Amino acid sequence: MPAPPLRTPHPARIAAARQAFVEALPPARRRVGEQRFDRAGAVLVGALEALYGHAPDADRWLLGLCAGLGQLAAVRPEPLAALDAAREAQPDWFVRQRMLGYSAYVDRFGGTLAGVAGRIDHLRALGVDYLHLLPFLRARAGESDGGFAVSSFEEIEPALGSMAELEQLTTRLREAGISLCADLVLNHVADDHAWARAAMAGDADKRAFFHVFAERALPDAYEATLGEVFPQAAPGNFTHVPALDGWVWTTFYPFQWDLNYAHPPVFAAMAHAMLQLANRGVEVFRLDSAPFLWKRLGTTCLNQPEVHTVLAALRACTALVAPGVLLKAEAIVPAAQVLPYFGEGELRGRECQLAYHSGLMAGAWAALAEGSAALPRRLLAQTPAPPPDTGWITYVRCHDDIVWGVLRPLVEAHGGDFAQRIGGAAAFLEGRVAGSFARGAAFQAHDEHSVHGSNGMTASLLGLPDDPLAPIDPAALRRYALLHALALWVGAVPLLYMGDELGQPNNADPADAARIAADGRWLQRPQLSTTALALLAQQRGVPAATVGVLRALMTVRRDPRWAAATAPTLVEHPDPALLILRRGDDALGVFHFGRDEVPLDLAALDAGNGWNDAFASGAAAGGAVRTLAPWATLWRFRNRE
Ligand code: GLC
Repeated sequence: MPAPPLRTPHPARIAAARQAFVEALPPARRRVGEQRFDRAGAVLVGALEALYGHAPDADRWLLGLCAGLGQLAAVRPEPLAALDAAREAQPDWFVRQRMLGYSAYVDRFGGTLAGVAGRIDHLRALGVDYLHLLPFLRARAGESDGGFAVSSFEEIEPALGSMAELEQLTTRLREAGISLCADLVLNHVADDHAWARAAMAGDADKRAFFHVFAERALPDAYEATLGEVFPQAAPGNFTHVPALDGWVWTTFYPFQWDLNYAHPPVFAAMAHAMLQLANRGVEVFRLDSAPFLWKRLGTTCLNQPEVHTVLAALRACTALVAPGVLLKAEAIVPAAQVLPYFGEGELRGRECQLAYHSGLMAGAWAALAEGSAALPRRLLAQTPAPPPDTGWITYVRCHDDIVWGVLRPLVEAHGGDFAQRIGGAAAFLEGRVAGSFARGAAFQAHDEHSVHGSNGMTASLLGLPDDPLAPIDPAALRRYALLHALALWVGAVPLLYMGDELGQPNNADPADAARIAADGRWLQRPQLSTTALALLAQQRGVPAATVGVLRALMTVRRDPRWAAATAPTLVEHPDPALLILRRGDDALGVFHFGRDEVPLDLAALDAGNGWNDAFASGAAAGGAVRTLAPWATLWRFRNRE
């Protein structure tokens, strides 16, 4: 049976933990430290007791951990401590700020960490105030899953810079009003990480950092209920390592060894790694592959209750040391299973402040392929608003494939055949259907009838041209507006993906051909195009058009009538091609996924008289009944008195 998420610890144990934490603080920080412990300490101790209370020496370990947290809080730099105080006073600061995010690889975006600072003007001109840089810590030599095989949490990847340069970058970003989000790859480390090497050298403690099996029996038993992330490139979930004389758990690639969170030092090491980066100015952590952190025989080993206990404990650590920091769950699972990452029950609002809405992302692409808003409508109708002081990360594309499995319950709950329906949508986006405008590619599908993921840059999936100076099909630009408008309408923090702002097409760089052949996700990982940037500066071609759309949308999002802290609600409408969402009483968004022109009666939606267009694409100005072109977007605001 799964353990309860929290234990109620003996008050004496909490008091001892509090003392260990506070004693490590300099006198000037003690009062605030005590207050913080009084808010978060019981969750921390209760979570750790639920996870590790049975371990030998659990008490001493807990006190050591708390003293370590105190030491990290003691050295937290003053400007970051000031941010902490301001954000504690307004815990939904990131929602109210109406942030716009941007996600990029350091090398492909700016060359190095120092080079990223040279792109701040570009980000600011877009309205970006949240920059997610994909992994930049020292990665495994050779193939590293784009840096997601981390060799050291203490060092920066040498080709990208140094820790000092990371601190300089976070300082520059902060001055520009941009929060830096970094990946915390917490499910696994590279097979050349010091822990893995020590395990291979026979260190018993470090062997316990991983899930190692001398015999094949248990791996086989687990495999009976496990899925596969890369069924073609990395089938199975275990890798035989001769130096371990056994099998090690490797959910992703064989060189990424899953960490064993049942072993207390793993938690302590990862919490320490996270908070050290926080003290260098990282303001948001993307908790990579969070659902995989706990294993249980007979299950998919996804979203186990202990995962939430681990994350609540990590959150309590940030609440003690770096309360201005946000945690973001990367849980690419159906939306109903993502909601618990915001915290449920006694953990409500005490886990991650942010989580990716991958269901909406995949649902929007499926809707585009189907010419019907049915899937996103159903999804949004079923998905409750996240708890206060939390919010969705919405996005159109990212560095990964569109993972179709997140839509499975949505399709099957209504008696649909997942492979047939979503396979059809994937085939459309992969350009395998007559009349398709899309130029994507299948990812990890066994044959043309199986469905796993689809790759491709936004522009190529939407039918924008490869040549940035070629004529633009207005319908493709409307599709671009539609998907970005939806992400901006729904999300607390919408996230642009590098190159999408410029309408960059699929990666066709010959230097990347081998990488794309080995892992098709490199199709959406091109270098940021300097040609496209130059065209933007000259206000020409595709980049001028796509940035123009984003700027227009962002202007509306910053309007005071935009109810930032209000979740959108679905408005029923007889036309299945239309997705209609309110944001409070004064804002209405209409998103048309169909391929035909349709009439829209604004009066019937109570958004006619006394309302104005805030953003319109494919919805010519007119009276109370408007004509929506295929893929039109219309945002309306009630006039202010
Ligand atoms: C996350 C990343 C993905 C990576 C995987 C393993 O899903 O987004 O790129 O392959 O984790 O670290």
